[in-house]
Amino acid sequence: MDVDSVVAGLSLAEKASLCRGSGFWHTQAVERAGIPRVMVTDGPHGLRKQPGDADHVGLSGSVPATCFPTASALASSFDPALLYRVGEALGRECRAEQVGVLLGPGVNIKRSPLCGRNFEYFSEDPLVAGVLAAAAVRGVQSQGVGTSLKHFAANNQETDRLRVSADVDERTLREIYLPAFERVVKEAQPWTVMCSYNKINGTYASQHHWLLTEVLRDEWGFEGMVVSDWGAVADRVAALAAGLDLEMPPNLQTSDARIIAAVQSGALAESVLDTAVTRVLKLVDRTTTDKGDPLDLEVHHALARAAARDCLVLLRNDDSILPLAPEPGSTLAVIGEFARTPRYQGAGSSQVNPTKVETALDQLTGAADGVTVAFAAGFGLDTTADDESLAQEAVELASRADTVVAFLGLPPSDESEGFDREHLDLPASQTELVALLAAANPRLVVVLANGSAIRLDGWEHHAKAVLETWLSGQAAGGAIADVLLGTANPSGRLAETLPLRLEDNPSYLNFPGDSGHVRYGEGVFVGYRGYDALAREVSYPFGHGLSYTTFEYADLVVDQTGSHAAGDLAITLRCSVTNTGQRAGKEVVQLYVGAPDASVARPIRELKGFTKVDLAPGETAQVPFTLSGRDLSYWSELNHRWALEAGRFDFAVGASSRDLRLAASLDVDAPPVAAPIDDSSSLQEWLADPIGGPLLLATIGVSDTGTPNGVLGDEELLRVIGNFPLRRLCAFPGMVVDNKTLDDLLERLGTPETY
Ligand code: BGC
Repeated sequence: MDVDSVVAGLSLAEKASLCRGSGFWHTQAVERAGIPRVMVTDGPHGLRKQPGDADHVGLSGSVPATCFPTASALASSFDPALLYRVGEALGRECRAEQVGVLLGPGVNIKRSPLCGRNFEYFSEDPLVAGVLAAAAVRGVQSQGVGTSLKHFAANNQETDRLRVSADVDERTLREIYLPAFERVVKEAQPWTVMCSYNKINGTYASQHHWLLTEVLRDEWGFEGMVVSDWGAVADRVAALAAGLDLEMPPNLQTSDARIIAAVQSGALAESVLDTAVTRVLKLVDRTTTDKGDPLDLEVHHALARAAARDCLVLLRNDDSILPLAPEPGSTLAVIGEFARTPRYQGAGSSQVNPTKVETALDQLTGAADGVTVAFAAGFGLDTTADDESLAQEAVELASRADTVVAFLGLPPSDESEGFDREHLDLPASQTELVALLAAANPRLVVVLANGSAIRLDGWEHHAKAVLETWLSGQAAGGAIADVLLGTANPSGRLAETLPLRLEDNPSYLNFPGDSGHVRYGEGVFVGYRGYDALAREVSYPFGHGLSYTTFEYADLVVDQTGSHAAGDLAITLRCSVTNTGQRAGKEVVQLYVGAPDASVARPIRELKGFTKVDLAPGETAQVPFTLSGRDLSYWSELNHRWALEAGRFDFAVGASSRDLRLAASLDVDAPPVAAPIDDSSSLQEWLADPIGGPLLLATIGVSDTGTPNGVLGDEELLRVIGNFPLRRLCAFPGMVVDNKTLDDLLERLGTPETY
């Protein structure tokens, strides 16, 4: 399509109509101009396409599609190559169903473990979310299918999600809530970005010009189309002016008329409308009607199982009870309704109608020769179940079994789009059962199914092993059996901290807000950044996960080349990691950086690199990392840019944020970061400034003994009045300088722009 000439030939009404869908899942066609419609559907971990011509909001009844692990599970793989492969498969399924854009992935940061949609999001850490989502986007788009990076931005809760204002400072936005979007845009160019429902500092994301145009396009170079979340547009004309191209679903009653009236009255430049239409048509133009090669859903199911295997996180494994090696003739008690009725995905718009579902019970039964696998439900999934008799039956089974595996998890109704959780606890019927089972049989393994963090403290000590499986998709059952029986070695790591108590979470006092506002009061101290700064004990730290083998870290070497001033600073690090155990296994090597000399409050350590290595017994890998100046920087609110401060930087490499095996430090040089001197600068700021300081001292003069004249020579007084703006001190006769001298000094410094 020659998009520019097509746009030039469209009427105003046709152009307005192209800036909204024709229904829930399609863009508008204009047959006269040869413009077809394109279908978009959810996402993110499987296709949710409503069959036939269905065009409505219903969540179920979509065409069968492979249900892959949800984002919280996939994130635990810490493996971008895996995300790419899953993305490719999703792309193939979309293409076969003639879906042009898959609505995902979602890269919102897990600010609180209570967020109802955490199962759909990757991590509390922006690097993990960004790297993995970029790989998923590349994978989907390699199949000629677009993605929609969502929900842009600061959509970190479901409570009042369509109206709440996320009140978040500039630095926190830049360091925590935007970088995952930034990375995916810069590295993978998603075809579309979906704006969020909420407001950011009082302005709807859908109408946020700074967000949708200045940051997304002008700074990051986004080339695609911005689509609204479903129903996120409050004022269609304001949204268009801000950079929101496509409204979904369409407000057929008012949107076209408002756009047309705004253009006719001159309130909206027609060129703005043309730009949006151009972006919509470029999307239409790049989608294909070629269905690609025939699908092999068995291959996708096998991929779902392989993916799930790499997502499971072994939290504890006392006495190496896992992997299980059941003797012929022994009995394995499988307890818990989730073994038979698995939880493998969350509820809401991401709900997939799976092609098939494997249960752990089926997969364990018959997997080990001569072993009897006996089942008891233990508890019911709903409140009408007779939990007491179910528990009794389970305890009786446990007491005569050789080993007990209990499948616990959150009830399906706990985790969904649309509302947040209120607590972190498993139902009492499950935690009480754990204690009873352990009393009946100490060889107890717990397998968890939950999409976001739960509280383990208070019951987990009853279990010898705990395996966190998240919501691992339709093949989770097989993957769990593989890990329990040792055909697979667990390699998942926590992409979110598991706290001891909800109250320890850094956002606790400010979540989910009230009166239309949620204040991001913890600032950049989100997740492990906050738990570490507050020295909180946690159940399991960010990055944690055990393996059936062991790894040894050695020989950390750090080097720097180039300079920050020249813009080519590169810090290179390398260490070796050896598999010192008896089995092949994968280790997630994590690099954390701290800036102890920083003049602003910075986290003790932040993840700045990770690599998953796959090692045979005895094998060693050299693991390299390269960091840029940006990786060491913070966002300066004074200068509105990334700022690298000279000083010491601490580097630590390890197996989790609290299992750091190797450390090194480096002094990095950089020009001063301070804001330019202006009329409100304090005496201290003047003295610290490389240009202002010498100028001021030269003006004041130095005594015969070499100390500055006047107050500057009196250290004690200087400490007391050093934070006074110099202008105020001008009123104190003879103290430093007078108003006229200060005017002269400021003039000699020049304007802030030329400074
Ligand atoms: C969700 C989006 C989803 C859209 C379409 C919205 O309610 O927030 O994530 O893509 O619906 O189903």
